Amino acid sequence: MKEILVVYYSQSGQLKDLLTNILKPLSNNEYHITYKNIEPVKKYNFPWSSDEFFDVMPESVLGINCELKHIDFEKTKYDLIILAYQVWYLSPSIPFWSFLNEKKYSKMLENTKVLTVIGARNMWIMAHKNVSIKLRQLQANHIGNIVFVDKHNNLISVLTIMKWMFTGEKGPYKNLPNAGVSNKEIVESEKYGNLITEAFKNNTFGNLQTEIVKIGGVPINFALKISETNAKRIFNIWANKILSKGKAGNTNRLPLIRIFKYYLIFLIFAISPIATILFTIVYYLFYPLTSKNLKRTSLLKDY
Ligand SMILES: Cc1cc2nc3c(=O)[nH]c(=O)nc-3n(C[C@H](O)[C@H](O)[C@H](O)COP(=O)(O)O)c2cc1C
Repeated sequence: MKEILVVYYSQSGQLKDLLTNILKPLSNNEYHITYKNIEPVKKYNFPWSSDEFFDVMPESVLGINCELKHIDFEKTKYDLIILAYQVWYLSPSIPFWSFLNEKKYSKMLENTKVLTVIGARNMWIMAHKNVSIKLRQLQANHIGNIVFVDKHNNLISVLTIMKWMFTGEKGPYKNLPNAGVSNKEIVESEKYGNLITEAFKNNTFGNLQTEIVKIGGVPINFALKISETNAKRIFNIWANKILSKGKAGNTNRLPLIRIFKYYLIFLIFAISPIATILFTIVYYLFYPLTSKNLKRTSLLKDY
C-alpha cells in the first residue's frame, strides 16, 4: 500500500475541497491517505477585518514565521507528500511558510516525492518561487505543481475576492461571478488524481508535471508574471518600512498599513491595466523567448 501524506492550510476550506477531489481516484485499498491541517497558535480570523487583512502583508512578504500547533505524523517516511498552500501578498501564506520552516518536519521531506498544490486568486509565481527554492534546500524531490486560480478578469477577481475575504461568502457579488476557483474546476480536479495513479502504477513521476501542464494544470500569464515580479519588489520596501514601526498587530503600524491599502488599490485599478497592456505587447513581440520562459516555469525548470 502506498502512503500519501497531505499537509494543507485553508481558511475557507477551498483547498481542502480541491484536495479531496484530486485524491478521489486514489480512494481505494492501494493507497492510504492522511490529511494534516496546519494550525497557527494564534488563528488568523476568517472573514478578515480590513486592518487584519492588510496587517499580514509585511510578515507574508518577508517570510516571518508564526507559531504553529504541533502536528503528529504517524510515519517518518511517505511515498508521496502533497503540500497545499495559498498565496498571501505574492508569498506563501504565513502558516504554510512557517510549516516549511519547522526543522522538526523537514527530515520527512528529504528525498521524498513532493507535489505542491496552489489555490490562489491568480498571482502565484513569486510564492511558488520561494517554495520551490525552499524545497530544493530541504532536498525534497519536487515532482509536480498543480495551480488553481480564479479565471475571471483580473479586476473582477479582485472585487469578488475582497467580498469573499471580508464577508466569508464566495458567492455572487451584485452582477459579478462567484469568487475564487470555480465549482466546475473543483469538481473536475479529480483528473489530476488519475495522473497521480498512473504515475504510481508505471513509476513515471518524472513525467508527471508534463502531463499536468497538458491538461491545463498550470494557468500562467506573462503580463501577470511580470507584474508580480515588479510588485513583489515594491511590497518588500513597504514591508520593511511597516515592520520598522512594530511587529504584527502593533497599533503603531496601523497608519502606514492603511496608506499601503490605498496604495495597493491604486496600483491594482490605475496602474495594473496599463501594465497589462504593455506586458502583453512585450509577450507577443518577443514570443519565442517569452513563451519559452512561461513553459519553463510551468514545467518546474525555472521560476
Ligand atoms: C491576506 C491575503 C492575501 C492574498 N494575496 C494573494 C496574492 O498575492 N495572490 C493571489 O493570487 N491570491 C492572494 N490571496 C488569495 C489566496 O491565495 C486564496 O486564494 C484565498 O485566500 C482562499 O484561500 P483559502 O484556501 O485559505 O480559503 C490572498 C488572500 C489573503 C487572505
